[in-house]
Amino acid sequence: TPEDVKKYGIGSVLSGGGSAPASGNTMADWENRINELKQAAIESRLGIPLLYGVDAVHGNNNIYGTTVFPHNIGLGAAHDEQLMTQIGEVVAEEVRAAGVQWTFAPTLGNAQNERWGRTYECFNEDAGEVAVLGAAYIRGLQGEKGTEKYLDEDHVLACAKHFIGEGYTTGGTNQGNVDMTEEEFDALLDSGLLDPYTAALDEGVLTVMISYNSVDGVKCHENKHLIQEVLKDQLGFQGFVVSDYNAIQQTSGKNYKEQVRLSLDAGVDLFMEPYTWQDSMQAIIDLVESGEISMDRVDDAVSRILRVKFEAGMFEEEIGGTHEKELGEQVGSEDHRALARQAVRESLVLLKNDIVKDNQTIMQALQNMDNLIVAGSAGDDIGKQCGGWTITWQGATGNTTKGTTIFSGLKAAMDKKGGTVNYSANGVFTDSDKKVDAAIVVVGENPYAESSGDRSAGQLKLPASDISTIKQIENSHPDTPIILVLTTGRPIAIADYVNDQHIKGIVNAWLPGSEGEGVADVLLGDKDFVGTNPITWTWYPQDITSKYTDTSKVLYPVGYGLKKVEKTGNFTTIDDPNVVDLG
Ligand code: BGC
Ligand code: BGC
Repeated sequence: TPEDVKKYGIGSVLSGGGSAPASGNTMADWENRINELKQAAIESRLGIPLLYGVDAVHGNNNIYGTTVFPHNIGLGAAHDEQLMTQIGEVVAEEVRAAGVQWTFAPTLGNAQNERWGRTYECFNEDAGEVAVLGAAYIRGLQGEKGTEKYLDEDHVLACAKHFIGEGYTTGGTNQGNVDMTEEEFDALLDSGLLDPYTAALDEGVLTVMISYNSVDGVKCHENKHLIQEVLKDQLGFQGFVVSDYNAIQQTSGKNYKEQVRLSLDAGVDLFMEPYTWQDSMQAIIDLVESGEISMDRVDDAVSRILRVKFEAGMFEEEIGGTHEKELGEQVGSEDHRALARQAVRESLVLLKNDIVKDNQTIMQALQNMDNLIVAGSAGDDIGKQCGGWTITWQGATGNTTKGTTIFSGLKAAMDKKGGTVNYSANGVFTDSDKKVDAAIVVVGENPYAESSGDRSAGQLKLPASDISTIKQIENSHPDTPIILVLTTGRPIAIADYVNDQHIKGIVNAWLPGSEGEGVADVLLGDKDFVGTNPITWTWYPQDITSKYTDTSKVLYPVGYGLKKVEKTGNFTTIDDPNVVDLG
């Protein structure tokens, strides 16, 4: 509460995923609440400005009506640096409009095992690619370092997270253990795993969040070697280190005080302790008084946090100023949504594109078709196409925020050309004798976030209802070509559909966010596919563990992505019997 902020001199407050002000979830509710908290900090004993943080991980995604961008895996498929910077700029404006100065983004992990529930938060499986896109995104969020824009009133502090090794846990378990010795892990760090962080630091990132995972059984939050020696001493990080949500409580300390000691000593500067913040403050005082933590360590942490607050211009910040109001007018604007729509277009990856007739591929033929049907649970559902971290932490299906569904985008495009398109979630259409040129079936994962997205290999497949919808269309339309559009945050089992001669095209739209028309722009418009697969996709999820050692298990390697017409040689370079050779 504002009273707590004032009484205890609290320096930073966060909203966890889905944690909106009690008054409601509009931009005005957020602004009012945050400004109250900021005002209370100014009135506190020291008068040091309050830093407010949120998980704006694909737009300012907690707040109703904001522009929701594709999740990072889709942006990785688009792999367009300039686009990343533009998105960063827009997200910063939509965050800043709420009075928030800090976003816990971007995630710089590189998923090695898609069983992991946070795979979609990663840009790519390769740390080098993550470094490039992450840096470009940070440039947008913060403004370019060395220019006047850097951390001005249009920009926000980024947070490089989660340090480090999160994509390498055994079985892809979230918050799990990386089964390597310290030596082996150091070798991995040197062979590229640190690159995203080096790039982020070069870009002027001033905050780093520690990861829940362990390395060789030791939680990163108590790993002095990784935080103090590698991040701060070796990489020369001058900003502050924030712990993850309640994460210090997973360290090996036998009681809370011991957990605070271990993480403070390891190098955590700011404690994200949303429930036990009072205990953590008391623990730090006790630890200094007993001599278990040196005053130097506390001074170091405080200096780092203050330096960041100075660099971010927080001491000059006008609470709820006119600029904030101006930014508010742009939230969810047409321009912002147009950029998100472009991101959707660029993120689409064409995985299958068979010949249908007259030597045309299905994607070519689709341009000239007049009567389409659309089916599948993800066809007309904003919440589903946005995925996790949207309005709520886990995300939800249904009409959760403003935007355009994939179907409404297709409908608008067909209306424009005078064609027809009908939608049925389960694929049951009443006017069954109507002529249909093609069926677009939009299916995919239901929303999830973090550990609740962890899956066994056997669970990495479409929901049962989507599987029956595909069957329904196949049975009711035996001669109609089918295009499968997937909304999935990661590779799932699709071998059956790749092999299915009735299914002529497969597109992965990842988790596209609020601007579903981007799909129609490519499927029905004159845009071609430019996206490429950012994560090694196996024929069968059971083979994930050997995907990096046995190429025969791989269905789509990284970089795979077809075009409507042959331009790049993509059709012939890959040894896959299902890839059409237009020779
Ligand atoms: C919060 C999330 C947070 C999670 C941690 C949830 O209650 O809303 O922001 O990531 O807890 O477990
Ligand atoms: C997540 C972080 C997030 C934090 C705050 C944690 O559970 O791991 O990514 O920034 O919650 O919501």
